[in-house]
Amino acid sequence: MTESSDFQMKKMPLSNGAGHMPALGFGTLIPDPAVTISATRDALEAGFRHFDCAERYRNEREVGETLQAGLAARGIAREDIFVTTKLWNSNHRPERVEPAFEASLNRLGLNYLDLYLIHTPFAFQPGDEQDPRDQKGNVIYDRGVTLLETWRAMESLVADGKCRTIGLSDIGLNELLPIYESARIKPAVVQVEAHPYLPETELLEFCKAKGIVFLAFAPLGHGMKPGLLEDPAILAIAARVGKTPAQVLLAWAVQRGTALLTTPKSAARARENFNISSLPEDAFDEINRIQTRQRLNDVVNTGSPGFIPRGKST
Ligand SMILES: NC(=O)c1ccc[n+]([C@@H]2O[C@H](COP(=O)([O-])OP(=O)(O)OC[C@H]3O[C@@H](n4cnc5c(N)ncnc54)[C@H](OP(=O)(O)O)[C@@H]3O)[C@@H](O)[C@H]2O)c1
Repeated sequence: MTESSDFQMKKMPLSNGAGHMPALGFGTLIPDPAVTISATRDALEAGFRHFDCAERYRNEREVGETLQAGLAARGIAREDIFVTTKLWNSNHRPERVEPAFEASLNRLGLNYLDLYLIHTPFAFQPGDEQDPRDQKGNVIYDRGVTLLETWRAMESLVADGKCRTIGLSDIGLNELLPIYESARIKPAVVQVEAHPYLPETELLEFCKAKGIVFLAFAPLGHGMKPGLLEDPAILAIAARVGKTPAQVLLAWAVQRGTALLTTPKSAARARENFNISSLPEDAFDEINRIQTRQRLNDVVNTGSPGFIPRGKST
């Protein structure tokens, strides 16, 4: 075992007795199909065993085929990987939830999912158009369904065994609380943007208290520059501990008790991002003291995903 094996092997227990999620996750938000395939293959080869997908990413088929081939080639069992996908905004009506789940399962070529998330709390006009807009270009929301009604339909997926556990994404504490209170099956995972510029400490504390896995996306600040990868404190710590800035940021995320999703797109970066280990306490504390605050993805405000162009985020 290498010195970094603690973080590489770390698994987060899921509520409802639904097993464990590997803390280090590979995200598949990759627009190009060929890059999706090579990056997914490289991630599996580097050691990632947790794969985050979404119907909205429009590449579940490529991810699924790459995983099937990778598992067969390496003799890895399906049970040894953890696969998530997400219900898109245009499928929030309860009668659309199971068909959307089955369609994702079919595209991924799997017979069960480890985790199914409501991608955002925003319901869009139901239908096959993922980005419904009116003539002025405004998103057409669906006021005819509540998040709790969608959650109830998610709960019924768990009963038949094809969906091991369920959760929410792009949600704040105020919207999470009523779902948590009313849920028959409590959310096991909450996936949100989190990094040293957006630590989401209150949400993290709530999740820890309730046994919910807090799953951080954009732990490298989505690689935006200028940004976290060039932050002077991160650069100084990286030089001091002999790690790369990316490794420092990913280690910080695991050390504070979150799971994470990162999207390296080359074999070298996949190995770099998987090869992480704990930071000295003083380095960890120094990152906690970073004062910059910046949200990078606007999805929590609108339901429309998208990293905010540089210089416009608040
Ligand atoms: N729930 C949601 O609404 C939501 C929203 C966004 C993302 N996500 C999920 O979270 C995943 C991760 O998000 P993210 O893309 O923001 O992750 P990220 O890992 O923070 O950022 C990826 C970016 O960082 C760069 N990068 C990766 N490894 C690097 C390294 N070692 N050194 C320097 N740069 C590096 C990549 O550059 P290259 O491209 O050049 O390799 C890419 O531009 C997504 O794939 C998706 O699964 C969910």
